[in-house]
Amino acid sequence: MATVALQNISKSFDDTQVLNNINLSIEDREFIVFVGPSGCGKTTLLRIIAGLEEASEGQIIIDGEDVSSAHPVDRGISMVFQSYALYPHLSVFENIAFPLRVAKVPEAELNQRVEHAANILQLTNRLQHKPGQLSGGQRQRVAIGRSIVRNPKVFLFDEPLSNLDAALRGDMRVELASLHQDLNATMIYVTHDQVEAMTMADKIVVLNAGSVEQFGSPMELYHHPRTKFVASFIGQPNMNFIAATLTASDDTSCSIDADDLGALTLPVAPVEGSHGDPVCLGIRPEDLSLATDGDAGGFIMKVKVLERLGGIAIAYGSIKSQASDSQSFKAVLPGDVQVAPGEEIRLHVEPSKCHLFSDQGIAMRRLKAEV
Ligand SMILES: Nc1ncnc2c1ncn2[C@@H]1O[C@H](COP(=O)(O)OP(=O)(O)OP(=O)(O)O)[C@@H](O)[C@H]1O
Ligand SMILES: [Mg+2]
Repeated sequence: MATVALQNISKSFDDTQVLNNINLSIEDREFIVFVGPSGCGKTTLLRIIAGLEEASEGQIIIDGEDVSSAHPVDRGISMVFQSYALYPHLSVFENIAFPLRVAKVPEAELNQRVEHAANILQLTNRLQHKPGQLSGGQRQRVAIGRSIVRNPKVFLFDEPLSNLDAALRGDMRVELASLHQDLNATMIYVTHDQVEAMTMADKIVVLNAGSVEQFGSPMELYHHPRTKFVASFIGQPNMNFIAATLTASDDTSCSIDADDLGALTLPVAPVEGSHGDPVCLGIRPEDLSLATDGDAGGFIMKVKVLERLGGIAIAYGSIKSQASDSQSFKAVLPGDVQVAPGEEIRLHVEPSKCHLFSDQGIAMRRLKAEV
């Protein structure tokens, strides 16, 4: 299929810069997810790749060819939008066939391509239905079918599942991942849902205010977030952050004082900062456990709400920290944990699982690689 390279892409609307010098290299057949908060520039970047928007600066290279000034239809790209706008008066067959009719593809080939797409998307027995007779997930598949029949080099998806309910989103996530394997195509998928990003992507691009914060595999981003922003975006429930003070450091570790959590020595190489500097400790809720009598230290969390999900329970509450007497805090506990709202629990965290960020939100390098 195709490789896609973005070189120094910037975009301004009037005086407002919305994309800043984006550089990305996407391999053939990769499933890439652009993730980031609303307004960070995901759709704009996708539209620039598709040729629906012109970059203010930079080049788009597809399969080694500079397509920066090529017309959208000449780029070999197909885009599926959030609102999948099907023609209500046309059958599923004709909706899928639409781009082929426009391109005046001969009838026999058109039939064969529509049937092939319908087969992949399990729509074969719905081809004569109208969109109004379909479920939301089936309609979304028709929109994807319209992309598939064009045999694009690259598929672009802009939040295609955001109109679906939670259960259907889950099903469609699996369907899209399996479609990616069947089609062996390069796909770029935009979402602000970090679960979609984690579960579907070969590599995730985290965008923040028009810049790439980090580009890497889901587990790389999970274990080694480069910034506090990435750390807070990837992982569910999201990471706890606690104000702390750097007290000592050497080549293999650094020590911090995090008030109620006490003194901790972490296998983190401080790349900047000196003793007495404020730092930010990051602890993932799933890296916490109930402290046993054998655990040294441990700290107290006051539980306010307990969400039981079956296999696990998520405790929401607060701890005391440098910043405040009552800083909100989350912990993932065993599903059958015996805790009632209002009670206090004693938690333990392995120092090797902790993350440390400078006051500017830059991760200090962890010395123990986990991926
Ligand atoms: N045609 C336009 N003219 C002016 N500003 C625009 C235009 N299109 C987008 N913007 C601005 O560019 C920024 C990025 O918008 P974009 O639609 O790319 O964000 P997004 O990451 O896709 O957000 P969302 O998750 O809400 O879809 C926003 O601040 C938006 O207001
Ligand atoms: Mg968008």
